[in-house]
Amino acid sequence: MYNDINIEEQIAAIDLASHEPADEHSRELYYIGKLRALIREKSAEIGRALTACTVTFGCQMNARDSEKLAGILARSGFVLTDSENADFVIFNTCTVRDNADQRTFGHLGRISHLKKKNPLMKVAVCGCMMQEPGNVEKIKKSYPFVDLIFGTHNIFRFAQYLYEIYDTDKTVTQIWQKTDQIVETLPIERKYPYKSGINIMFGCDKFCSYCIVPYVRGRERSRDPKEILREAENLARDGVTEIMLLGQNVNSYGKGLDNPCTFAQLLEEVCRIEGIHRVRFMTPHPTDLSYDVIEVIRDNPKVARHVHLPLQSGSDRILKRMNRHYTKEQFIELARRIREEIPDVSITTDIIVGFPGETAEDVAETLDVIERVGFDNAYTFIYSPRRGTPAAAMKDQIPAEEVKVNFDKVLSAVQRNAAMRAGALTGRIMEGLVEEVNERKEGYVTCRLSNNMVVHIPGDASMIGSYKPILLEQCRGFYFFGRIADTDSAADPQ
Ligand code: SAH
Ligand code: SF4
Ligand code: F3S
Repeated sequence: MYNDINIEEQIAAIDLASHEPADEHSRELYYIGKLRALIREKSAEIGRALTACTVTFGCQMNARDSEKLAGILARSGFVLTDSENADFVIFNTCTVRDNADQRTFGHLGRISHLKKKNPLMKVAVCGCMMQEPGNVEKIKKSYPFVDLIFGTHNIFRFAQYLYEIYDTDKTVTQIWQKTDQIVETLPIERKYPYKSGINIMFGCDKFCSYCIVPYVRGRERSRDPKEILREAENLARDGVTEIMLLGQNVNSYGKGLDNPCTFAQLLEEVCRIEGIHRVRFMTPHPTDLSYDVIEVIRDNPKVARHVHLPLQSGSDRILKRMNRHYTKEQFIELARRIREEIPDVSITTDIIVGFPGETAEDVAETLDVIERVGFDNAYTFIYSPRRGTPAAAMKDQIPAEEVKVNFDKVLSAVQRNAAMRAGALTGRIMEGLVEEVNERKEGYVTCRLSNNMVVHIPGDASMIGSYKPILLEQCRGFYFFGRIADTDSAADPQ
């Protein structure tokens, strides 16, 4: 765990009887120390340990944030559990589409019953949804049992808020409008021992007209490359072999740094770290994906053969209204270049169907890009109006029935192309990282290839975290069944 090596010593060195320290890092450790005493007392009272559960919605950045929440909970004396029937439950929310909001409300509705049965239980809600004042009001009104609410900008204050709700038994609501602080050194409880995300930047300045992220995550801020490399080195030392560099628009990494550093340079530096075997990144924006990034991927076998390149729409007219800053042909040219330079690369994408004013012709343009690029996979989303975004105010919103027809067309084109691309790999031997035991098929484990494709092979838990040469035997649409290749046949390094 990052920086955890001496975190106990750091906590022990803090005088808990004194005032809170001024710097954020020590301040949070101070509250972890104080909270521990409270939690120990409560556990003694009830004769068992207090349990805590983190529930995460949304993107990889939220998943990484939840590892920080879990780290603080574990260090404060809670026993972590996957069950929402716990003494402390925290929902780390997403608000990118309405169905994300609805999922959180659904969970809150169900948890109210559990809370009635367990009077000790405390519930917290944090994350992107909380940066929308309407959502905070709704929670206070409809789910008054929630004990703690905070947003994206002050997540590093979690230990303090947790201490306050346990110390006073009162509710705490703390939403900040922004922050200039980057606090990434607190304890972290990783979900996987062998792979980890690393935040390289926060926020987004792109303001795509449909998107809420810039409003809830704030302005773009890059982390110091030295800090990122130190975190990656620590992770490698702790057994992590795969790293994913995270940001909403990773190619604009480096703007505003004291010592200029581009994303391409950072990627190259991370590849130099001993013990790191694979490096992924999420998400590039098609406008800023510079040729030097493509070259770094091409020349560094450690960089995964996978580029997630969100298209959103294939229609120039819609792209303009989306504020995406590229045309259909520019996107196709970029994808062509990526495929030309990086053999075996997979290109995946995000597509929105039903953006205001989208016509049958616009959808035909999107279908044309799908056919011409031949995406290896795609997430297709139905447009969801987000309050306060320019697209939500556009007059020509499309009725749901109409969107459904177009959505099905796009989805089937995506699935057909993905199956074709995957099918072409049948019989190849590729290196896979064994990630987890397959819950659905006994005696099987699930591996991920460098191109992000999933393969199920016979195996057991002892293989988790290892890289194996895998023979891709049966294609099932966008994933494979396979087996470990005979030892004398060499795997493609990718
Ligand atoms: N920063 C990333 C993606 C962030 S959100 C990028 O630009 O690619 C992930 C995906 O959600 C987006 O790519 C988009 O396809 C989808 N999305 C964002 N806002 C949406 C909305 N209002 N309705 C439907 N889909 C949306
Ligand atoms: Fe949203 Fe666009 Fe930023 Fe992605 S680049 S997070 S879609 S505003
Ligand atoms: Fe959702 Fe926030 Fe990520 S809105 S997609 S969790 S940045």
